[in-house]
This record gives sequence, structure tokens and C-alpha cells, in this order.
Amino acid sequence: MSEKNIKRIGMLTGGGDCPGLNAVIRATVKTAISEFGMTVFGIKDGFEGLIRDGDCVYELTPAHVRGLLPRGGTILGTTNRGNPFSFPAQRNGRTVAVDKSRTVMNRFKALGLDALVVIGGDGSLSIAHQFAERGMPVVGVPKTIDNDLSATDYTFGFNTAVRTATEAIDKLHTTAESHHRAMVIEVMGRDAGWIALSAGLAGGADVILIPEIPYRAASICAKVRARAQAGCDFSIVVAAEGAKPLRGRSVYLDAKRKRLGGVGEKVAADITKHSGHETRVTVLGHLQRGGSPSAFDRILASRFGAAAARLAARGEFGRMVCLQGADIASVPIAEAIGKLKTVPPHGELVQTARDLGISFGD
Ligand code: F6P
Repeated sequence: MSEKNIKRIGMLTGGGDCPGLNAVIRATVKTAISEFGMTVFGIKDGFEGLIRDGDCVYELTPAHVRGLLPRGGTILGTTNRGNPFSFPAQRNGRTVAVDKSRTVMNRFKALGLDALVVIGGDGSLSIAHQFAERGMPVVGVPKTIDNDLSATDYTFGFNTAVRTATEAIDKLHTTAESHHRAMVIEVMGRDAGWIALSAGLAGGADVILIPEIPYRAASICAKVRARAQAGCDFSIVVAAEGAKPLRGRSVYLDAKRKRLGGVGEKVAADITKHSGHETRVTVLGHLQRGGSPSAFDRILASRFGAAAARLAARGEFGRMVCLQGADIASVPIAEAIGKLKTVPPHGELVQTARDLGISFGD
């Protein structure tokens, strides 16, 4: 398809929100309108906006994106439940999964869209890929605070989440020292420990627990005791929510819905039991997904958003924008999904942490 044929593009945000989503929306709208003379349509609440009846699709003008750059969240709304290929519906008083993909395809056609920009994580991009295989002209933009998407060196939102977690560790440090306590801080990171590792390094943690390196309670307690014996009677333990003990499992708040949470409490109980040290737990939770994006994330999100508009204008569909080294590039969405980028347990970042005396509880 030549540039001239792409006149109407839709855009949606899917999955968990993330600082920088609005900056992507702003950059795509500005580039699509000013550089390519396109009309851009925002779709509310991910793919669900193409299923639900009502006013879920509206034109995004420059006025809609004015002042958006520093704003957290997404003006389009999002959901991590509305997979059109397995959409929840009520049948005889029961919730069942139905395939609404045809509804989405028909709505896309009825709106006269030439392309769809999907800003999302592994789940939303997998859905986008399924639609691309059915002939929908799709462009992907990777998003997750966890930074665990392969095919891009960084995702926007991660830097802001690390900043938030680091600030929290700094604050816990002063109270830990005053009260001679072990402070456990639980951060996000379902399958990958990038936030825990980065914030732990930046905040000077004593122990970092990540899903990639199973921990032993005895090893964590040995570190806390060794510090006390050396005259430091306080410790900071940063635990990714997906961290798990050797020969044990991840801790869930709600196993059915796969909602992780509770490893911090578990580790704190272990420390108190085996070292006698007074311990407190802070669960940072969704604070890490909120707030104004850092300068790094604003720039990366703007580069991704502009690049997505350029891909759409060139008719390069089925591809996802990405960061490779210092450069913005694109890869087939098919190559970017289904395999996560986890922390290499023997990589340089982990080695640096070990060199600085940080324990991984192994
Ligand atoms: O994928 C990003 C993430 O923040 C994970 O780290 C976390 O497990 C999950 O989202 C939480 O999602 P929800 O908003 O459904 O609680």
C-alpha cells in the first residue's frame, strides 16, 4: 500500500496501564495528522471498544492530546480482560468465553479504518498478531513497566517504575536504620526481575529476590545476620512479586486469577523466625504503574508513537516498533510475542550487584 492510501487509523491501549501511554498517543496523533494528513480515531478500553455498542470510537484531534505528555495513565482507557478471541459473556447465569473476533473485524471495516495501532504488552500484541493473521493492518507499540518484552531493549514505563521503587527504597532506608529493622519491599515483576534488580541496585539494597534466581530463606537470614554482626543492624530486601523459594512456588493473592502478591510477607516471616530481627513489609503495588513519566520514558514513548505513525503511513503492517541499542527500529510482531526477556542470572547486572555485596538469597 502506498503512503497516500492510509488515511484513517485507529488506536487503542491494552493490558495494564503504564507511564508514557499518553505520550505515545500524543506522538502518534501529532505525526499522523501533521506529517501524513491522516485522521486518527481513539478506541476506548482496548479491543473491547470495538466490541461494545455505544460511543467507544471517537476522532482524536490535536486538541485532545494537548498537555498529555506529562500525564500518567491512558486517556483511551484500558483493560486486561477483554480478549476478543475469548470474550466473557453471560449465558444462563454463567460466565462463558465466546469468540468476538468477527465482531472486531466487522467493526474495523465499518469504521473505514486503514490501520490499527495497538499499544500493549505481550497479551495485547498476541491478540494484535491474531488479527494481523486474519488480514487486519496492524502496527504494534510495546508497553510494560516490567520491561520483559523481547525484541525491544527497553519499554517506556519501566524507567518511571524503577524511579518510583528507588525513591521508596531511599525512604525505607532511613526508617530501617532508625529502628534497626529489616525492611522488605515487594515490587512488581511477574516473570522478570528487572524492576527489583534495577531499583535494588539504584537504592543500595542488601538482598534482591527475583523470579530468575530462586532463593533460600536461610541465605537471606545469613545476610541479615552478617550485616548485624558487622555493625549494620538494619537491612533492605527488595523482592519481585514473582520471586520464589528454591523448591517452592510463587505466592498468589488470588491463584485462580493469577494475581501475584505476598512474597514480601513470606520473606519477612522467614527473617523474623530465623534471625529474630524485627521486620516490616511494604508492598509498592500499583504505585509503580502510576504518575508522571520520567524524561526518559517521555522521549522513548514519543519516539515509539511517531515511529508507529510512520510505519502505518508506509503500509508496513504486522510489525512492532522497538528500541535496538540507541535506534528505533521495527520487527515482525510474531517475533516479539510469546518469549519473555528475563534477567540473565549470570549476566553483568547480576554480577555487578554481587560484586557490591548484594545477596540474591541463593
Ligand atoms: O504486567 C505488568 C504488571 O504490572 C505486573 O507486574 C503485575 O503482576 C500485573 O501487571 C498486575 O496487574 P493488575 O493491574 O491486573 O493487578
